[in-house]
Amino acid sequence: MPIIAPSILAADYTQLGHEIEQAAEGGAEWIHCDVMDGHFVPNLSMGPVIVKAARKATDRFLDVHLMIYHPDHYISDFVDAGANQITVHYEAVPHLHRCIQEIHSHGIKAGVAINPATALQNIEPILPYVDLVLVMSVNPGYGGQEFIDQTYERLHELVGMRQKVHGKFLIEVDGGITQKNIEHISRCGADVFVAGSSVFHTDQIRDSVRSLHSLASTGKQFLV
Ligand code: DX5
Ligand code: ZN
Repeated sequence: MPIIAPSILAADYTQLGHEIEQAAEGGAEWIHCDVMDGHFVPNLSMGPVIVKAARKATDRFLDVHLMIYHPDHYISDFVDAGANQITVHYEAVPHLHRCIQEIHSHGIKAGVAINPATALQNIEPILPYVDLVLVMSVNPGYGGQEFIDQTYERLHELVGMRQKVHGKFLIEVDGGITQKNIEHISRCGADVFVAGSSVFHTDQIRDSVRSLHSLASTGKQFLV
């Protein structure tokens, strides 16, 4: 079954809890929390205090995406805030294997993220150890950007790599996902779909999640 992970970066912060609830009622299995430090990416967003608020608002799986340098300094803070999974960027972590081990030592899931211009071969050595590979389909830092079409081919490549290493990780796509492209993305092998604007910048949050879910499920039936 495809997983829809609404990104609360796009939510209305005057009613964050209410909007998270609506996304969950629409069938979102995960809630995606985009953490940005203003250095690894040009934008500043949220920290553990927002993840803690999301934890209070829902029992859904909190999928924390760290677009920050030195993520290893903050793992326990996000675990304490209620994260169920922490994903760090390959490009931001010199000791990636140790960082993944550190996340796992807290009893939660660990993911690695890669930017659009990072070759997939760079993460091959870590694939046997991760629960998730997050493929950025926009340049990280902002919501509301256009989906980068080269991502389709990268998904095919990553599915092949997963088979080769007998990996168990989920493939997550993050950025620019809408009702127009999610079926194609799903056909290319993605398991988890992060959607910010196409969920929260609508007046029907529940229905937006439902439509994304149904289109992603259709795509799954026609894997290419
Ligand atoms: C971008 C973030 C994405 C983004 C998704 O750096 O990682 O999760 O918030 O937002 P949309 O769906 O609007 O592209
Ligand atoms: Zn993200």
